[in-house]
Amino acid sequence: MEWKLSGISPPASGCGLGQAKQGRQGRQGRIGMNAATVAEIDFPWTDQYLLGFSPMDAHHREFVDTLNALATAAQDDVLTMLDKFIEATEEHFHQENDWMVKHAFPPRDCHMAEHQAVLRTLYEARGMVVMGRTDFLLGMIKALTEWFPGHADHLDSALAQWMTKKTHGGIPVVLKRLAREQTAE
Ligand SMILES: [Fe+2]
Ligand SMILES: [Fe+2]
Repeated sequence: MEWKLSGISPPASGCGLGQAKQGRQGRQGRIGMNAATVAEIDFPWTDQYLLGFSPMDAHHREFVDTLNALATAAQDDVLTMLDKFIEATEEHFHQENDWMVKHAFPPRDCHMAEHQAVLRTLYEARGMVVMGRTDFLLGMIKALTEWFPGHADHLDSALAQWMTKKTHGGIPVVLKRLAREQTAE
């Protein structure tokens, strides 16, 4: 069953560095939002998401944490946790948009359009939760967990490099621990 939210649609015109991501999601289509269970949502933080620009890495960590908190929220806490996730996502996206504009990042229009599409979906979701609908939420959360790695890899990583170059005169050096070291912790 496909949920009746707008969905997280990649811009149809293509996003330069985002082409690989769009290929994975379907160039025209939005990310599907099929029903899901908590057990199907597997979205731990991993250093693989580090991009080497620390203010952005901090936002991404918060994205993962607040989305997981929403996925496991008790029914009575769903609206509170959704609001926390929306607030964190607004700050995250507004900060990136601000960097792109201030530092004249070339492919910013499609990156900002993708942020806007996600926020539009979240605002619609909030409206549905306020009306008492929460059955679609896990499907939306799963879609976001599938959307985030591609966005980070193909759009945010380019911005992180741009920002590091603009602010420190070099490209980021990212030290990532092996995934199995993280699991052993
Ligand atoms: Fe980001
Ligand atoms: Fe972004």
